[in-house]
Amino acid sequence: MKPVDILKKIAFRHTSWFKPQYPYNTEPIQLATLVNQMERLRDMPGAIVEIGVARGLTTRFLCEHIVKSGIRDTPYYALDTFQSFLAEDIDFEVQHRNKKRSELQGNFGYNDFSIWQKNFCEFPFVKAIQADCSTFDYASITPIKLVFLDVDLYIPVQKALPRIYEALSPGGTILVDDVQDNSLYDGACQAYMEYCAQNNIFPSVVGNKCGVIAKPVTTDQSLTVSPLNKRVPDQAEFTSLPAYAMQGKFNTAQAGILHS
Ligand SMILES: C[S@@+](CC[C@H](N)C(=O)[O-])C[C@H]1O[C@@H](n2cnc3c(N)ncnc32)[C@H](O)[C@@H]1O
Repeated sequence: MKPVDILKKIAFRHTSWFKPQYPYNTEPIQLATLVNQMERLRDMPGAIVEIGVARGLTTRFLCEHIVKSGIRDTPYYALDTFQSFLAEDIDFEVQHRNKKRSELQGNFGYNDFSIWQKNFCEFPFVKAIQADCSTFDYASITPIKLVFLDVDLYIPVQKALPRIYEALSPGGTILVDDVQDNSLYDGACQAYMEYCAQNNIFPSVVGNKCGVIAKPVTTDQSLTVSPLNKRVPDQAEFTSLPAYAMQGKFNTAQAGILHS
Protein backbone atom coordinates (compact mmCIF):
# COMPACT_ATOMS: atom_id res chain seq x y z
CA MET A 1 0.00 0.00 0.00
CA LYS A 2 1.31 3.47 -0.95
CA PRO A 3 2.05 5.83 1.98
CA VAL A 4 -0.74 8.15 0.81
CA ASP A 5 -3.23 5.27 0.91
CA ILE A 6 -2.10 4.31 4.40
CA LEU A 7 -2.69 7.90 5.50
CA LYS A 8 -6.17 7.85 3.91
CA LYS A 9 -6.98 4.60 5.68
CA ILE A 10 -5.92 6.02 9.05
CA ALA A 11 -7.80 9.27 8.40
CA PHE A 12 -11.00 7.43 7.40
CA ARG A 13 -10.96 5.05 10.32
CA HIS A 14 -9.73 7.31 13.10
CA THR A 15 -10.77 10.89 12.18
CA SER A 16 -13.82 12.58 10.64
CA TRP A 17 -11.81 14.16 7.79
CA PHE A 18 -13.32 11.84 5.18
CA LYS A 19 -16.84 12.00 6.54
CA PRO A 20 -19.11 13.17 3.67
CA GLN A 21 -20.52 16.65 4.20
CA TYR A 22 -23.38 18.60 2.60
CA PRO A 23 -21.80 22.04 2.04
CA TYR A 24 -24.85 23.82 0.57
CA ASN A 25 -27.29 26.10 2.36
CA THR A 26 -29.73 25.38 -0.44
CA GLU A 27 -31.78 22.18 -0.34
CA PRO A 28 -31.21 19.43 -2.92
CA ILE A 29 -34.64 20.17 -4.40
CA GLN A 30 -33.67 23.84 -4.85
CA LEU A 31 -30.50 22.90 -6.69
CA ALA A 32 -32.52 20.44 -8.78
CA THR A 33 -35.11 23.13 -9.51
CA LEU A 34 -32.42 25.58 -10.57
CA VAL A 35 -30.95 22.99 -12.92
CA ASN A 36 -34.39 22.08 -14.29
CA GLN A 37 -35.21 25.73 -14.89
CA MET A 38 -31.88 26.21 -16.66
CA GLU A 39 -32.79 23.32 -18.92
CA ARG A 40 -36.35 24.55 -19.48
CA LEU A 41 -35.01 27.96 -20.47
CA ARG A 42 -32.01 26.60 -22.34
CA ASP A 43 -33.02 27.95 -25.74
CA MET A 44 -34.30 31.30 -24.48
CA PRO A 45 -31.77 34.10 -24.84
CA GLY A 46 -30.90 35.78 -21.56
CA ALA A 47 -28.78 35.74 -18.46
CA ILE A 48 -28.94 33.72 -15.28
CA VAL A 49 -28.57 35.97 -12.23
CA GLU A 50 -27.73 34.82 -8.73
CA ILE A 51 -28.28 37.63 -6.24
CA GLY A 52 -26.49 36.95 -2.97
CA VAL A 53 -23.71 34.50 -3.74
CA ALA A 54 -21.67 34.42 -0.50
CA ARG A 55 -18.56 32.33 -1.20
CA GLY A 56 -20.15 30.84 -4.30
CA LEU A 57 -21.28 27.32 -3.39
CA THR A 58 -24.44 27.40 -5.51
CA THR A 59 -22.60 29.35 -8.18
CA ARG A 60 -19.96 26.62 -8.38
CA PHE A 61 -22.59 23.86 -8.53
CA LEU A 62 -24.44 25.59 -11.37
CA CYS A 63 -21.19 26.36 -13.23
CA GLU A 64 -20.58 22.62 -13.24
CA HIS A 65 -23.97 22.08 -14.86
CA ILE A 66 -23.39 24.84 -17.42
CA VAL A 67 -20.08 23.30 -18.46
CA LYS A 68 -21.16 19.64 -18.34
CA SER A 69 -24.40 20.22 -20.23
CA GLY A 70 -22.81 22.49 -22.83
CA ILE A 71 -24.98 25.55 -22.19
CA ARG A 72 -23.47 28.34 -24.27
CA ASP A 73 -23.89 32.09 -24.71
CA THR A 74 -25.50 32.45 -21.29
CA PRO A 75 -23.92 34.95 -18.94
CA TYR A 76 -24.14 34.09 -15.24
CA TYR A 77 -24.22 37.27 -13.20
CA ALA A 78 -23.18 36.85 -9.57
CA LEU A 79 -24.32 39.92 -7.67
CA ASP A 80 -23.46 40.60 -4.04
CA THR A 81 -22.25 43.39 -1.81
CA PHE A 82 -19.30 41.04 -1.12
CA GLN A 83 -19.35 42.80 2.26
CA SER A 84 -22.19 40.90 3.95
CA PHE A 85 -25.49 42.58 4.88
CA LEU A 86 -25.90 46.35 4.63
CA ALA A 87 -26.12 48.16 7.98
CA GLU A 88 -29.53 49.68 7.17
CA ASP A 89 -30.95 46.26 6.23
CA ILE A 90 -29.81 44.83 9.58
CA ASP A 91 -31.21 47.88 11.39
CA PHE A 92 -34.64 47.15 9.93
CA GLU A 93 -34.53 43.52 11.08
CA VAL A 94 -33.57 44.64 14.59
CA GLN A 95 -36.00 47.57 14.86
CA HIS A 96 -39.04 46.15 13.10
CA ARG A 97 -38.65 42.36 12.99
CA ASN A 98 -37.38 41.45 16.45
CA LYS A 99 -34.10 40.01 15.23
CA LYS A 100 -30.88 40.12 17.24
CA ARG A 101 -28.13 42.22 15.73
CA SER A 102 -25.52 39.75 16.98
CA GLU A 103 -27.12 36.97 14.91
CA LEU A 104 -26.92 38.97 11.68
CA GLN A 105 -23.82 41.12 11.88
CA GLY A 106 -20.72 39.93 10.07
CA ASN A 107 -22.24 36.66 8.85
CA PHE A 108 -20.66 36.93 5.39
CA GLY A 109 -17.97 39.41 6.42
CA TYR A 110 -15.23 37.04 5.30
CA ASN A 111 -15.98 37.81 1.64
CA ASP A 112 -13.69 39.69 -0.73
CA PHE A 113 -14.66 40.76 -4.25
CA SER A 114 -11.28 40.24 -5.93
CA ILE A 115 -10.67 36.85 -4.32
CA TRP A 116 -14.18 35.75 -5.30
CA GLN A 117 -13.52 36.80 -8.92
CA LYS A 118 -10.20 34.95 -8.88
CA ASN A 119 -11.90 31.80 -7.59
CA PHE A 120 -14.21 31.81 -10.61
CA CYS A 121 -11.70 32.83 -13.29
CA GLU A 122 -11.91 29.39 -14.92
CA PHE A 123 -15.57 30.13 -15.73
CA PRO A 124 -15.44 33.15 -18.07
CA PHE A 125 -19.23 33.26 -18.37
CA VAL A 126 -19.44 34.20 -14.65
CA LYS A 127 -19.57 37.96 -14.27
CA ALA A 128 -19.36 39.17 -10.70
CA ILE A 129 -21.05 42.45 -9.82
CA GLN A 130 -20.45 44.24 -6.53
CA ALA A 131 -23.66 46.13 -5.79
CA ASP A 132 -26.64 46.56 -3.50
CA CYS A 133 -29.45 44.47 -4.99
CA SER A 134 -32.02 47.00 -3.69
CA THR A 135 -30.79 49.73 -6.03
CA PHE A 136 -28.99 47.87 -8.84
CA ASP A 137 -30.10 48.71 -12.40
CA TYR A 138 -31.24 45.29 -13.65
CA ALA A 139 -32.08 46.79 -17.07
CA SER A 140 -28.32 47.05 -17.60
CA ILE A 141 -28.00 43.23 -17.75
CA THR A 142 -31.15 42.33 -19.67
CA PRO A 143 -32.36 40.05 -21.10
CA ILE A 144 -32.69 38.02 -17.88
CA LYS A 145 -34.37 34.61 -17.91
CA LEU A 146 -33.64 33.07 -14.50
CA VAL A 147 -32.94 34.66 -11.13
CA PHE A 148 -32.00 33.07 -7.83
CA LEU A 149 -32.59 35.73 -5.14
CA ASP A 150 -30.84 34.72 -1.93
CA VAL A 151 -30.21 37.79 0.23
CA ASP A 152 -32.04 36.62 3.37
CA LEU A 153 -33.39 39.88 4.81
CA TYR A 154 -36.69 41.75 4.35
CA ILE A 155 -35.49 45.04 2.85
CA PRO A 156 -33.27 43.75 0.02
CA VAL A 157 -35.86 41.17 -1.07
CA GLN A 158 -38.71 43.67 -0.79
CA LYS A 159 -36.82 46.32 -2.80
CA ALA A 160 -35.23 44.01 -5.35
CA LEU A 161 -38.24 41.85 -6.31
CA PRO A 162 -40.22 44.47 -8.28
CA ARG A 163 -37.08 45.64 -10.04
CA ILE A 164 -36.10 42.10 -10.99
CA TYR A 165 -39.62 41.22 -12.16
CA GLU A 166 -39.63 44.31 -14.36
CA ALA A 167 -36.36 43.23 -16.00
CA LEU A 168 -37.29 39.53 -16.28
CA SER A 169 -38.17 38.24 -19.73
CA PRO A 170 -41.71 36.87 -20.17
CA GLY A 171 -41.58 33.14 -19.49
CA GLY A 172 -38.67 33.60 -17.07
CA THR A 173 -38.52 32.48 -13.45
CA ILE A 174 -37.46 34.00 -10.13
CA LEU A 175 -36.61 31.62 -7.28
CA VAL A 176 -36.43 33.20 -3.82
CA ASP A 177 -34.57 31.46 -1.01
CA ASP A 178 -35.63 31.42 2.65
CA VAL A 179 -39.36 31.54 2.06
CA GLN A 180 -39.80 29.85 5.42
CA ASP A 181 -41.61 31.31 8.41
CA ASN A 182 -40.16 31.42 11.93
CA SER A 183 -36.51 31.40 10.93
CA LEU A 184 -33.65 33.88 11.28
CA TYR A 185 -34.09 34.86 7.64
CA ASP A 186 -37.88 34.96 7.49
CA GLY A 187 -37.67 38.57 6.26
CA ALA A 188 -37.22 37.03 2.81
CA CYS A 189 -40.41 35.06 3.40
CA GLN A 190 -42.40 38.13 4.45
CA ALA A 191 -41.19 40.15 1.45
CA TYR A 192 -41.98 37.29 -0.96
CA MET A 193 -45.48 36.80 0.44
CA GLU A 194 -46.23 40.52 0.38
CA TYR A 195 -45.01 40.81 -3.20
CA CYS A 196 -47.22 37.90 -4.25
CA ALA A 197 -50.23 39.35 -2.43
CA GLN A 198 -49.75 42.80 -3.96
CA ASN A 199 -49.35 41.43 -7.46
CA ASN A 200 -52.01 38.69 -7.56
CA ILE A 201 -49.40 35.98 -7.73
CA PHE A 202 -50.22 32.67 -6.11
CA PRO A 203 -47.28 31.85 -3.82
CA SER A 204 -45.74 28.46 -4.36
CA VAL A 205 -42.84 26.98 -2.47
CA VAL A 206 -40.61 24.21 -3.75
CA GLY A 207 -39.30 22.02 -0.95
CA ASN A 208 -39.22 23.82 2.39
CA LYS A 209 -38.05 27.30 1.44
CA CYS A 210 -37.82 28.08 -2.27
CA GLY A 211 -40.44 30.61 -3.36
CA VAL A 212 -41.31 30.68 -7.04
CA ILE A 213 -42.39 33.59 -9.21
CA ALA A 214 -42.95 32.84 -12.85
CA LYS A 215 -43.52 35.66 -15.31
CA PRO A 216 -46.30 34.76 -17.72
CA VAL A 217 -45.55 34.67 -21.40
CA THR A 218 -48.71 36.63 -22.12
CA THR A 219 -49.76 39.78 -20.29
CA ASP A 220 -53.48 38.90 -20.09
CA GLN A 221 -53.06 36.48 -17.16
CA SER A 222 -54.40 38.20 -14.05
CA LEU A 223 -53.38 35.23 -11.91
CA THR A 224 -49.80 34.15 -12.37
CA VAL A 225 -49.47 30.40 -12.18
CA SER A 226 -45.99 29.02 -12.12
CA PRO A 227 -45.14 26.27 -14.58
CA LEU A 228 -43.94 24.55 -11.41
CA ASN A 229 -47.40 24.72 -9.92
CA LYS A 230 -49.29 21.49 -9.74
CA ARG A 231 -52.66 23.14 -9.30
CA VAL A 232 -54.50 26.39 -9.82
CA PRO A 233 -55.95 27.80 -6.57
CA ASP A 234 -59.69 28.31 -6.50
CA GLN A 235 -60.98 31.86 -6.13
CA ALA A 236 -61.76 31.60 -2.38
CA GLU A 237 -58.27 30.36 -1.65
CA PHE A 238 -56.75 33.04 -3.80
CA THR A 239 -58.65 35.97 -2.31
CA SER A 240 -57.70 34.87 1.20
CA LEU A 241 -53.99 35.17 0.41
CA PRO A 242 -53.45 38.91 0.79
CA ALA A 243 -55.04 38.83 4.25
CA TYR A 244 -52.67 36.38 5.80
CA ALA A 245 -49.72 37.56 3.79
CA MET A 246 -50.19 41.09 5.13
CA GLN A 247 -50.81 39.91 8.69
CA GLY A 248 -47.63 37.86 8.64
CA LYS A 249 -49.59 34.73 9.54
CA PHE A 250 -48.60 32.77 6.49
CA ASN A 251 -46.54 29.64 6.43
CA THR A 252 -45.35 27.40 3.69
CA ALA A 253 -48.26 25.02 4.16
CA GLN A 254 -50.68 27.85 3.45
CA ALA A 255 -48.59 28.90 0.49
CA GLY A 256 -48.82 25.42 -1.01
CA ILE A 257 -45.63 23.45 -0.68
CA LEU A 258 -44.61 21.82 -3.91
CA HIS A 259 -42.52 18.73 -4.14
CA SER A 260 -42.01 18.22 -7.82
C1 LIG B 1 -27.18 33.18 2.12
S1 LIG B 1 -25.91 34.08 1.36
C2 LIG B 1 -26.00 33.55 -0.31
C3 LIG B 1 -25.70 32.08 -0.49
C4 LIG B 1 -25.53 31.61 -1.90
N1 LIG B 1 -26.65 31.99 -2.75
C5 LIG B 1 -25.38 30.10 -1.94
O1 LIG B 1 -26.36 29.43 -2.25
O2 LIG B 1 -24.29 29.61 -1.66
C6 LIG B 1 -26.54 35.72 1.34
C7 LIG B 1 -25.68 36.73 0.60
O3 LIG B 1 -26.49 37.88 0.35
C8 LIG B 1 -25.64 39.00 0.29
N2 LIG B 1 -26.44 40.21 0.47
C9 LIG B 1 -27.15 40.58 1.56
N3 LIG B 1 -27.73 41.77 1.38
C10 LIG B 1 -27.43 42.17 0.11
C11 LIG B 1 -27.74 43.30 -0.68
N4 LIG B 1 -28.49 44.31 -0.20
N5 LIG B 1 -27.27 43.36 -1.94
C12 LIG B 1 -26.49 42.37 -2.44
N6 LIG B 1 -26.15 41.27 -1.73
C13 LIG B 1 -26.60 41.15 -0.47
C14 LIG B 1 -24.67 38.75 1.44
O4 LIG B 1 -23.50 39.51 1.27
C15 LIG B 1 -24.45 37.24 1.34
O5 LIG B 1 -23.30 36.95 0.62
